[in-house]
Amino acid sequence: MHLSSKHLLGIRDLHREDITLILDTARQFKDVLQRPIKKVPSLRDVTIVNLFYENSTRTRISFELAEKRLSADTINFSASGSSVSKGETLLDTVNNILSMKVDMVVMRHSATGAPHFLAQHIPAAIVNAGDGINEHPTQALLDALSISERLGGLEGKKVAIIGDIMHSRVALSNIYLLKKMGAEVTLAGPPTLIPKYIRESFGVNVTYNIREALEWCDVANVLRIQLERQNQVLFSSLREYNHAYGISKKLLDSLDKEILIMHPGPINRGVELDSDVADSGQSIILDQVENGVAVRMAVLYLLSGRKESTS
Ligand code: CP
Repeated sequence: MHLSSKHLLGIRDLHREDITLILDTARQFKDVLQRPIKKVPSLRDVTIVNLFYENSTRTRISFELAEKRLSADTINFSASGSSVSKGETLLDTVNNILSMKVDMVVMRHSATGAPHFLAQHIPAAIVNAGDGINEHPTQALLDALSISERLGGLEGKKVAIIGDIMHSRVALSNIYLLKKMGAEVTLAGPPTLIPKYIRESFGVNVTYNIREALEWCDVANVLRIQLERQNQVLFSSLREYNHAYGISKKLLDSLDKEILIMHPGPINRGVELDSDVADSGQSIILDQVENGVAVRMAVLYLLSGRKESTS
């Protein structure tokens, strides 16, 4: 019942067995979360700091909730309002926090590689909650659990990842995970938002035609257009993007099958996804959010090295 790694820095570093173990453990914690008392003592006496250098709603809240459900003690740190504004370095900040006897660090940072850097310098276990445009491993794990619940597994399933692949850590973590677990992956979107050599590097399909991707897939994971990470014009306007690459009800209804729609959030409604799709019966977006708590409980529990039962 151990992961092969001390940290969760990315899906790239995990073995297929690690992913299976995390998903199986998350399923056990999902059962706990259905009970009237949704709490287990598994991480009693473990202290976890949630270190957020970048904004978050879903990831931050679900890590906090996961920690509380596991009976851990938690500290929440936001870069805004901290001594980071006075010039304190990441390493100084973390070492100061760790000197107060913190066992695990959950970190989101806008710099790619920030959690990998920390892992080389501190003894605590680190969970990457999203680093720049690199990876968002717990998002890929909760996406995998959500797909698996609806489609009965991942092996052989056809997943289209649609939109801003270039700037998406969700896309990269999903590609690593889905390929390791035997799913087929097609990336779809404008040529300017899909990295040139990704097809050869990752063994994925690429299309610039959204209809073709939707006709092929069992599930479409639609990504947010990340305007804050784009420093050049990569498409003409949001209206044009919606017209050419947005997912509308009309487009979905014109397919000869019903596919699942996912989105990591936050959604740009009316850009990559129309509201009547986001809120439709085909959408499993809120399942994804719900599964985030159990998946994060599983990751924290497994990394803690604790042996107490999950029930
Ligand atoms: N999916 C996701 O990472 O959302 P937040 O940025 O709100 O955490």
